[in-house]
Parts: sequence; C-alpha cells; structure tokens
Amino acid sequence: MSASRPGRRLALVGCGAIGSLVAELLEKKKSSFKVTALFDPQSEAAAKLSKKLKSNPVVCGQLSHVFSECDWVLEAASVKAALPTAEAALKNRKPIVMMSTGAFLLNEKRLSQLAKKYTTKIYLPSGALCGLDGLKAARQIGSIKKLTITSTKPPRGFEGAPGLTTAQKLALAKNKSAFYLYRGDVWGAIKRFPANVNVAATTAIASKEPAKLKVQVVADPKATLNQHEIHAEGDFGELTAITRNRPSKMNPKTSALAIQAALALFERLESYVEVGN
Ligand SMILES: NC(=O)c1ccc[n+]([C@@H]2O[C@H](COP(=O)([O-])OP(=O)(O)OC[C@H]3O[C@@H](n4cnc5c(N)ncnc54)[C@H](O)[C@@H]3O)[C@@H](O)[C@H]2O)c1
Repeated sequence: MSASRPGRRLALVGCGAIGSLVAELLEKKKSSFKVTALFDPQSEAAAKLSKKLKSNPVVCGQLSHVFSECDWVLEAASVKAALPTAEAALKNRKPIVMMSTGAFLLNEKRLSQLAKKYTTKIYLPSGALCGLDGLKAARQIGSIKKLTITSTKPPRGFEGAPGLTTAQKLALAKNKSAFYLYRGDVWGAIKRFPANVNVAATTAIASKEPAKLKVQVVADPKATLNQHEIHAEGDFGELTAITRNRPSKMNPKTSALAIQAALALFERLESYVEVGN
C-alpha cells in the first residue's frame, strides 16, 4: 500500500459506477484522499478496481474489515446496503459520505443520533442535483410553502425498479411518449424507485420539510438525459433548478454529475476556501 496522508485513507463500500470512477478520478486528480480499502459483495468488482489503482487498496471480504484500513468511508452501494454500512462506520468513528441518501432519509433519526454519540459526521453530497444551496438558504427565514421535484429519465433508467407494476413494465417497453411512473410522497418514491430517487431524498433532507415534498417520476422514451427539476415557493420567493445530466456509461440509472459531486465534496474537504453554503 502506498503512503497516504494521515486521516485521509478512504474505504469504498460499493465498487460500481460511482465507487470505481470516484476512486480512479481521486487518483488522477492527485487528491490527498487515497483509496486504501474496498468492499463489494461482488468481489470481482472490487478486485478489478484494486488492480487499476496505484494505491493498491486491500480488498476486504467483509464490511467489518474495512474500518481498520481507513479514516473515511464512501458508501456507493444501494439504499438497502447503506444503513448497515453507515451504522458500522459511525460506530467505528469513521466519517461517512453516503451516496444512497434515500437510506439516510428513511433512518434519519437513528443515523443522526449515532453520529452525535460517536462524534462523527455524515456527508450527503448534492449528487445529480443543483439548487440545494438555494433551498438551504430559503428555509433560514420563513417557511417553504410548496416543494416539488420531477425526475425524468429514458425508460432504460428504470429497469429493475422494485415498484414497477406489470402495466408499467409494458409501458416502458412500448410507450412512445412520456408518462408518469409515480406521483406522491418521498417515502413511497424511495421504496418504489430506490435507485432513481436519491435526488428526491436529498431535496427532502435539505429542505427539512420532507412531508411537503411532492415527487414526480417520469419515463420519457424521447429523453437522452436524466433530468431533475426542483421547484420551491416560500417566503423567500421562488426557485426553479433544472439539471440535465448525462447518464453514467456504466449505470444508466446514475447520472455522471453524481460521480462528480462526490469528487467535488472530497475537494471541498481538503480545501482551505469553501464556496457556496
Ligand atoms: N445521491 C445521488 O444523487 C445519487 C445519484 C446516483 C446514484 N446514487 C446512488 O448511489 C449508489 C451507487 O450507485 P452506482 O451507480 O455506483 O450503483 P452500481 O449499481 O453501479 O454499483 C453499486 C455497487 O455496490 C455493490 N453492492 C451491492 N450491495 C452491497 C453491499 N451490501 N456492500 C457493498 N457493496 C454493495 C454492487 O455489487 C455494485 O458493484 C446507489 O444507491 C445509487 O442509487 C445516488
């Protein structure tokens, strides 16, 4: 293992589209964060990534083994895997960057209490979204009265979603025009489309008004990009933020910007000047 700056050894939990590209780009950018441990139940994904990295990270056979090899954890696995990962990281006093923000929203009280108890921090990157800075500022005085997020993706971005009905699966294969897959609250959206609506979870968390958030999920056969549109109204005025993201080549459910958002967070963590709130 190559020498790394004290306190900047990073373990990756999940070596898919986000984990593997973040690891490679941190190295390319000569970040002070060095990937020193990998865990993925698909051990070949971790082994393949380990071979690509100069930092020669340890491929761990179990999640519990990563904590002796790292100072930080990046969770880039799934909403299901994120809760046990975050609980274990916090109990080992390792700050964790969680990409599966839906898991945080579903377990906000428990994870916040653990972070406090073990004096460790949880970081939730903006992911595939812009507009969260405005939303966080907007709620400082007065209230947010209306909040909507509409996520539109090409049909292949919804493949394998657990909440698809038989009729929706057929429509994804055959429909020629855009249609709603979901309209409702954020908790239902996470359960039905866990790999597609982390952006909605992040919006809900940033707003601190999750019950006010209306989530709309749209499949559009003509779309080539993953689009997320936030609209908020409140005492501050109005905010509309639209992000049109190129899907990741490795995973069409994931936007390339989500990968870059994780990199931007690590850059902020090592920077002496911070921009944005
Ligand atoms: N916050 C955002 O804006 C945002 C954007 C895109 C994706 N995401 C989320 O980030 C996560 C990773 O996305 P991705 O595109 O890299 O997914 P991916 O499917 O490409 O990769 C996930 C990897 O995690 C591994 N994995 C599964 N269970 C695991 C476990 N228990 N422990 C460790 N690894 C495990 C899989 O084998 C796979 O290699 C997903 O939950 C995704 O929904 C968040």
